[in-house]
Amino acid sequence: MNAPLDQQFLTLQEIVAAARASLPPAPWSYLIGGAETETTVRRNRHALDSLAFRPRVLRDVSKIDSSSTFLKQKVRLPVMLAPIGGLESIAEGGAAAAARGAAQFGVAQMLSSVCQPGLEKTAQAADTVRVFQLYVRGDDAWIDGHVRRAKDNGFCAFCLTVDVAVYSRRERDLLGRFIKPWRKGASEGAPFQAGLNWDHVKRFKDKHDVPLILKGIATAEDAELAVQHGVEVVYVSNHGGRQLDHGLGSAAVLPQVVEAVKGKAEVWVDGGVMRGTDVVKMIALGARAVGIGRLCGLGLAAAGVPGLVRTLELLEEEIRTSLGLLGVTSFAELTPAHLAAAPAVSVPDTFSAFPLLK
Ligand SMILES: Cc1cc2nc3c(=O)[nH]c(=O)nc-3n(C[C@H](O)[C@H](O)[C@H](O)COP(=O)(O)O)c2cc1C
Repeated sequence: MNAPLDQQFLTLQEIVAAARASLPPAPWSYLIGGAETETTVRRNRHALDSLAFRPRVLRDVSKIDSSSTFLKQKVRLPVMLAPIGGLESIAEGGAAAAARGAAQFGVAQMLSSVCQPGLEKTAQAADTVRVFQLYVRGDDAWIDGHVRRAKDNGFCAFCLTVDVAVYSRRERDLLGRFIKPWRKGASEGAPFQAGLNWDHVKRFKDKHDVPLILKGIATAEDAELAVQHGVEVVYVSNHGGRQLDHGLGSAAVLPQVVEAVKGKAEVWVDGGVMRGTDVVKMIALGARAVGIGRLCGLGLAAAGVPGLVRTLELLEEEIRTSLGLLGVTSFAELTPAHLAAAPAVSVPDTFSAFPLLK
């Protein structure tokens, strides 16, 4: 009989190793890969690895609260499961499994519109704090239909991913001849996504009263435009380096977006987050919530729903350790003064967060 998961997995590195052992080559490459040279993937890690901590001491950290709020709802960590399309190719149950893990642990889930078992069944799978993320494949009425369904099914906010005007060239998938079933028919709807512009954002805000998130903002200029359009959440992301190659790392973009937004919207972020210290750095830079994409997929691939819950527990342990050693007792006390620029000490790649991994 296998040992309980809290004995099997003492580190996140062991989660990654178990995921690697369990996934066949095609879904592994799909989960891990990025676009073209994967420079943006590595820059996500490089930007995080180029930040060092400035700890404060003698501050009584005997009680640490690592909880947060997510769109006014209480969550156990300021961490959310980022939307992952085709999650069903990585873990049985797909988005429903992610929803169960999120609910069991107590974090928010963003559901991708291209993930099985779809909007209604994922909502029924667990009582999560949930957000719906849409790839636009139809006209205004088509978008409005999705907003209605999301609201009817308890999704508390709506997300448009805006860094996918054109689908990128993911070379690991191309080299492996991996044809993604969920992308069949995508070309029919592609002109709608490519045609998206700020007028669509304006129309959305005029028509709908649900909080709107723009995911995939990568410049201060677009962050300012988002705020001018009344968007509630500016989500800094480069799609985990899976869309435009040769972009900046998210942690390098985040400060300029926080500055541009001036507190008029929430700022969320993802990109390369694999460790508790990464979450702490992003919050110190001004993010309100931090998304995990690949790490969520790795947790599910390692051991299904319990594997995801264990992943989140380990992330929480790392976060609480870092908070205490930084001399703070809650995320609210973190500021950019807890960080300093420093040269990265390892060559960045997806797994440079796990240097002991064989
Ligand atoms: C396998 C996979 C599928 C993804 N599918 C979507 C998607 O359907 N919609 C979306 O907005 N982002 C998607 N993303 C991007 C993630 O939401 C997130 O931005 C990214 O994974 C963050 O980087 P990280 O993987 O380094 O944490 C996907 C990412 C991965 C790894």
